[in-house]
Amino acid sequence: MKICIIGTGYVGLVTGACFAEMGNHVCCVDVDEIKINNLTSGELPIYEVGLKDIVEKNRKEDRLHFTTDVKLGMKDASFCFISVGTPPCEDGSADLSSVFEVARVIGRCINSYLIVIMKSTAPVGTTEKIKDIIKQELKVRGRDELLFGIASNPEFLKEGEAVKDFMQPDRVVIGADNLQVAELIKQLYLPIVANSGNVLIMDIRSAELTKYAANSMLATRISFMNEIARLCDKVGGDIDHIRIGIGTDSRIGSQFLYAGAGYGGSCFPKDVKELIHTGRKNDLQMHIAEAVHIVNEQQKYYLVDMIKQRFGENLFGKKFAVWGLSFKAQTDDMREAPSLVIVHSLVTLGAHIVAYDPEAAKQAKQAFLEYGDKIQYVDSMMDAIYRADALVMITDWPQFRTVNVNELKKQMHQRIIFDGRNQFDPEQMAKNDFEYYCIGRSCYVK
Ligand SMILES: NC(=O)c1ccc[n+]([C@@H]2O[C@H](COP(=O)([O-])OP(=O)(O)OC[C@H]3O[C@@H](n4cnc5c(N)ncnc54)[C@H](O)[C@@H]3O)[C@@H](O)[C@H]2O)c1
Repeated sequence: MKICIIGTGYVGLVTGACFAEMGNHVCCVDVDEIKINNLTSGELPIYEVGLKDIVEKNRKEDRLHFTTDVKLGMKDASFCFISVGTPPCEDGSADLSSVFEVARVIGRCINSYLIVIMKSTAPVGTTEKIKDIIKQELKVRGRDELLFGIASNPEFLKEGEAVKDFMQPDRVVIGADNLQVAELIKQLYLPIVANSGNVLIMDIRSAELTKYAANSMLATRISFMNEIARLCDKVGGDIDHIRIGIGTDSRIGSQFLYAGAGYGGSCFPKDVKELIHTGRKNDLQMHIAEAVHIVNEQQKYYLVDMIKQRFGENLFGKKFAVWGLSFKAQTDDMREAPSLVIVHSLVTLGAHIVAYDPEAAKQAKQAFLEYGDKIQYVDSMMDAIYRADALVMITDWPQFRTVNVNELKKQMHQRIIFDGRNQFDPEQMAKNDFEYYCIGRSCYVK
């Protein structure tokens, strides 16, 4: 099959590379010329486990191409995926300008039957609008007779495990108003769902809403656990015991129950906000989604509050080591990362930051550009903690967990750790004479 992917970001690049890996011929399109030039010469714009290998392999085998020219990308394609960004506007609604621009371009370029598949996360009704825009463009060209299929196929991959998630999905959701179109898209996914058979065909609006409901449900679990963790810090109890205590209940399950420094990334925050906005537009207050968002905003300041309680509000002359800047481990994505709030707060209070992240330093430098030399970036976690007054752990990169505590003791100026991801055992830390503050394990009494 020949497939065109428009929007070559986290989702588009993974989708394109994985479909090529399944034997299809894929052309990924993007407006970002630098990104396309880099990809053409083998340089990936993002870090994702396993992605570089399959991009390399399929490029060499001539199944994966990159271009800025939509017409070229769409040439002879049977399927065209839209995977451009849908970032949040000020009022929480999704900015659909790129999606509609792509729809117009598709309408201008389409020359034979094509199935257009909306993969970006966009509010209910967007796929129908895309259909209308394409029809309008065909009319302008005097080609109203040209038929095309339309579907919503939301993506559920997680950054950090994107290739695995795409290749071994729990389910594939296809929303279509035409069963034949849905069946053709299902065929595309057969190599990866043949064993599970978990392809869910539904109407377009249900598919669009499934994506928002899924992300909001996962965000709800995180905010709920963060709130229980804060209660633990007030009344005693250990959020890790509680997590296991409830997670072993088969009705609840164990995933997405970790208390921490708050959720971030390009999906949960914006999708929860868009759900609230869609409710508001339709005279329905989304009470749960609103609470999830509020709890998360507060949670990003929880570590900052601990630090202020310990050090006071004047951090001039203090050196803080920060481990982890990306919004979660195994990604270099800084979008809505809790580190943006935490580092900003510490710098504003006067602290000097020495930061280490295994993959996100380049993105972080861009995100924290305004702070100049108040933030220093180093190449190893041990370099960061040298003569530090405290260590602040924001992202749960696995290597942080296995650090040599004796080395930490030797190198740090003061043995103080603020752990936003509950990476260490409080008892072990106490034995090693560390002042150890973490989330919901009664190490921090408010
Ligand atoms: N990142 C994730 O983990 C994830 C997971 C599931 C769903 N999604 C959804 O998928 C969509 C894409 O997310 P992403 O993280 O890949 O975004 P991204 O910002 O990484 O990538 C979007 C790409 O689209 C390109 N683009 C913008 N306008 C364009 C145009 N007119 N023509 C061609 N290319 C254009 C941009 O240059 C960029 O490279 C969003 O709706 C997001 O909510 C993301």
